[in-house]
Amino acid sequence: MFKRIDHVGVAVEDIEASLALWRDSFQMEVSHREVVEEQGVEAVLLEVGENHVELLAALGEQTPVGKFLAKKGPGLHHVAYQVVDIDETLHVLRQAGLDLIDEQPRAGIRGSRVAFLHPRSTAGVLTEIVEPAPAPAPAAATEPAAEAH
Ligand code: CO
Repeated sequence: MFKRIDHVGVAVEDIEASLALWRDSFQMEVSHREVVEEQGVEAVLLEVGENHVELLAALGEQTPVGKFLAKKGPGLHHVAYQVVDIDETLHVLRQAGLDLIDEQPRAGIRGSRVAFLHPRSTAGVLTEIVEPAPAPAPAAATEPAAEAH
């Protein structure tokens, strides 16, 4: 069901200060940076082979990452697994009795669809599943459902 680890999420107080470690000392290449207003975070992806580390800084104290930082301080925040079909995966996990934070997928960075599972049903590890954005397709082949009669 899980194809590989997509990324490991790390909560940080300050993106720029954190890049001194991850980008400069660890020599990881920054491949993406994005503010996701609806999740209240600024995210930076750094490359580790075909996987990533995702640095997360809170946009405010009342955001999920802001609350996490206030409670636990900076550190490991979540593990994200890549899936092919997030709708199907959520269905299977719901059937298995897991506690879903997101009943429906929501927008993640880089056009992905993501959903979080509650750590109380995942051994204390906040767990994210990620369906990457589809590879760019020829214009005529996109959104076939939109034309349905
Ligand atoms: Co993530």
